[in-house]
Amino acid sequence: MNADQPAADRSRQDDRFRSTPRTVRSGQTLMKITFFGHSALQIRTEDTTILVDPFITGNPLAEPVVSAADLTPDVILITHAHGDHWGDTPAIARRTGALVVANFEITEYLRKKHGHENVLAMNTGGAAEFPWGRITQTYARHSSSFPDGTYGGNPCGYLVESGARCVYVAGDTSPFAEMAWIGEELDVSVALLPVGDTFTMGPRASLRAIRMLDPAVAVPTHFNTFPPIRIDVEAWAKLVHDTGFVARVLKPGESMAVETD
Ligand code: NI
Ligand code: MN
Repeated sequence: MNADQPAADRSRQDDRFRSTPRTVRSGQTLMKITFFGHSALQIRTEDTTILVDPFITGNPLAEPVVSAADLTPDVILITHAHGDHWGDTPAIARRTGALVVANFEITEYLRKKHGHENVLAMNTGGAAEFPWGRITQTYARHSSSFPDGTYGGNPCGYLVESGARCVYVAGDTSPFAEMAWIGEELDVSVALLPVGDTFTMGPRASLRAIRMLDPAVAVPTHFNTFPPIRIDVEAWAKLVHDTGFVARVLKPGESMAVETD
């Protein structure tokens, strides 16, 4: 899984991907992640833009690099109803008409309170097929309620598969034993893991998650947005490298190409 490949080598490969036209290798298409800060990020396949947990307005990391009004997703994935994930979902969904994928409680809230009908309700372990790939809703050990206190169903994560690439968005969670199933059954290209501690796993616990998932690259999320989740993210990256895996820290606004093994 290229665990011994330094991160610097991977970023050189990213430059090569950026200058390459649509099809990278035969049968394998471009997939790119852009991180906006906290848990807000975007996954682009060749022709589809998937926005995850669009907490932009009021997000001190995201506001300097992106505005909610600039985002034009085809699909929005929501991991849970907490304000730092739900964020700008109603406004972006209404403006773009994007398909919003979440648990049933969240899609019903969006339909009834905000009149957005283009939704797909899923539940833990279920998968949905699309022309561009496949989404599986995964378990997450956390809680989920809307900013107004409404029950937000179970929190979740997502596996986003497109061609030979697989991106795991863990959502807010601590490590859980079934992460080993994900690692066994799929070649995870990129695992986006919360590492800010206090509300999710912290740096040390994330090593257990990374060992189970065995991703080609681990990317940290949910850190340094607010005082309770401030960490030394470079120290986290060193811990990951010292454990024999590849870490890549994305600055808000930064993108990376998703590679196959
Ligand atoms: Ni949360
Ligand atoms: Mn959160």
